[in-house]
Amino acid sequence: MHLDSKDSLREEFNRWAEAGRGEGMEQEHLPITLPVLEKMRLAPTDSVLDVGCGAGWLSRRLAKLVPEGRVVGMDISDEMIRHARRSSVDFDNLIFVAGEVAQIPWQPNFFSHVISVESSYYWPDPAAGIKDIFRVLSEGGSAWLLINYYHDNSHCHQWGSLLTVQTHLLSADEWSGLFRDAGFKNVAHERIVDRSPSPDVYTGRWFRDAEQLRAFKAEGALLIYAAKK
Ligand SMILES: C[S@@+](CC[C@H](N)C(=O)[O-])C[C@H]1O[C@@H](n2cnc3c(N)ncnc32)[C@H](O)[C@@H]1O
Repeated sequence: MHLDSKDSLREEFNRWAEAGRGEGMEQEHLPITLPVLEKMRLAPTDSVLDVGCGAGWLSRRLAKLVPEGRVVGMDISDEMIRHARRSSVDFDNLIFVAGEVAQIPWQPNFFSHVISVESSYYWPDPAAGIKDIFRVLSEGGSAWLLINYYHDNSHCHQWGSLLTVQTHLLSADEWSGLFRDAGFKNVAHERIVDRSPSPDVYTGRWFRDAEQLRAFKAEGALLIYAAKK
């Protein structure tokens, strides 16, 4: 069954948070996220928004990279936000807010960078989300969107029927078009290959077998990035 309202999305990810899946995603997403952090070339004073921050592991890494700046982690799931806050009490340049990407609870022209990891294919209205990211970015700022579920990698297509929330299976060109429609310039995309070791035998439910998992990782995640000029 596909549930499609924002409330259903929040409830589903609240259940993920309660099951500890927010914390578990760090191990899965870190190998593809580290190369993106290098490409972002953050300065110590930058202000960064982490959209769909989950349990906040990436927001905490970002906060260490911008010690004189600020990081805001935002997620539609208030339970993810509770987990993120609980693990971040030692940070004084990091806050978490509950919110939906099409209505980011923040002032315009504020952030130097916006990043989102493995979240955008869940957004009920990806075009509206990208437009609101454009709104909160400052002139000269940049957006970085990283996803494992996209049309050009056929080894992930089965995820759509495994997930109980609605997803969008768009191609790199379609995502890029949404960025251009929102007003972004210098829109580009590339693959980020996951070089972490793969098991000899796969027992999870997301891939047919270990061979498909290896093929999926070799295709790589899709990174779309763009500037507000
Ligand atoms: C697969 S998790 C990834 C979490 C985190 N970025 C990570 O890598 O561990 C997707 C996250 O996106 C959030 N999310 C989904 N749709 C959203 C929306 N429309 N607005 C804000 N957050 C959303 C979910 O609540 C969930 O925490």
